[in-house]
Amino acid sequence: MAAKPLHPATLAAQALGWIDEQTGAVVLPVHTATTFLRDPDNQYRRGRGYGRADNASYDQPEALITALEGGAASLVFASGMAAAAAVFHSLPAGSHVVAPRVMYWALRRWLGTQAESGALAVDFVDMAALDALRTAVAPGRTRLVWIETPANPLWTITDIAGAAAIAHTAGALLAVDSTAATPVLTQPLSLGADIAMHSATKYLNGHSDVIAGSLTTGRKDEFWQRAVAARSGHGAILGSFEAYLLLRGMRTLYPRVERACHSAQRIAERLTAHPRVLEVLYPGLPSHPGHAIAARQMTGGFGGMLSIRVRGGEAAAIAAAARVEVWKRATSLGGVESLLEHRASIEGAGSPVPPDLLRLSVGIEDPDDLIADLETALG
Ligand SMILES: Cc1ncc(COP(=O)(O)O)c(C=O)c1O
Repeated sequence: MAAKPLHPATLAAQALGWIDEQTGAVVLPVHTATTFLRDPDNQYRRGRGYGRADNASYDQPEALITALEGGAASLVFASGMAAAAAVFHSLPAGSHVVAPRVMYWALRRWLGTQAESGALAVDFVDMAALDALRTAVAPGRTRLVWIETPANPLWTITDIAGAAAIAHTAGALLAVDSTAATPVLTQPLSLGADIAMHSATKYLNGHSDVIAGSLTTGRKDEFWQRAVAARSGHGAILGSFEAYLLLRGMRTLYPRVERACHSAQRIAERLTAHPRVLEVLYPGLPSHPGHAIAARQMTGGFGGMLSIRVRGGEAAAIAAAARVEVWKRATSLGGVESLLEHRASIEGAGSPVPPDLLRLSVGIEDPDDLIADLETALG
């Protein structure tokens, strides 16, 4: 009888259970070599030649991400932006792509520059419902649909299976920025996506000490080979030590995400009733427009990210952000420490973010400490 497959939480905690064959060590050595020996007959039969294309320290983190995402292969990158850019660089020049209006702002801005230069033709649409996407895709012309769910910083939810059907009918690929969902809560490939992307800087690493990114594919096809070539061609490679740290962080992914989800749900529910809070944006609240889809496509929780709109506008929001003590007033997300920021200050002009919005990344501290600090800061 075949053994029952191990739960992903077990795979993550044990980093797939890999053991160093030479020493029996339960943690693999960090490979720092930049070059590898040729065979006597001039071949590279062991599969590695030069460190920009081949790094043995990537094997285990990539295999673990592949297992957690249920994919065919993964690539780690120097950053989430590098991972995302590799997807777009793997398209033919001038390709038409459709992306969300509400998405990670730096990627939205970068896509705008790609459109200005003619490298891509980009349409930004509302991805909360699929009508705008259906209208924007052009069969035979659109090469890629990019979505982010939940999407920064309104936590807009996009129906991955629905978006995949629309993309595929038009002959396009679907790539999903799944950073906020993590593989603990959503597996985009199982819902029909072709590529799952992470800013591994966030939950995958989880300790605010590594910048990294990842892509996972459902198929090792020609497009994937172009992404592989884009990484080494652009030199967008992760350092060996960072790959090791990323793997170490991923070992605690499940308990970190589970706790963050639980605390975020409590904080969201509590703040809903707060007189200084105009609105709480969290997919775990029935009042969130994407709640029903999130409940279908997210398993085990709605993530550790939420936003609040503070009564009194921008000045009141910034003043509240200045008063937190337990929360750290800093950008980024997905670390063990809770972070809070006034989002419009980061995104600048042209952002779809309301000026009174504070973005909250819930860490793994005691939730009552987090709630008490927020209530004091809100006044
Ligand atoms: C959802 C999302 N995607 C992509 C990125 C870019 O990742 P990185 O900062 O690792 O380049 C970020 C970073 O904040 C993000 O939040």
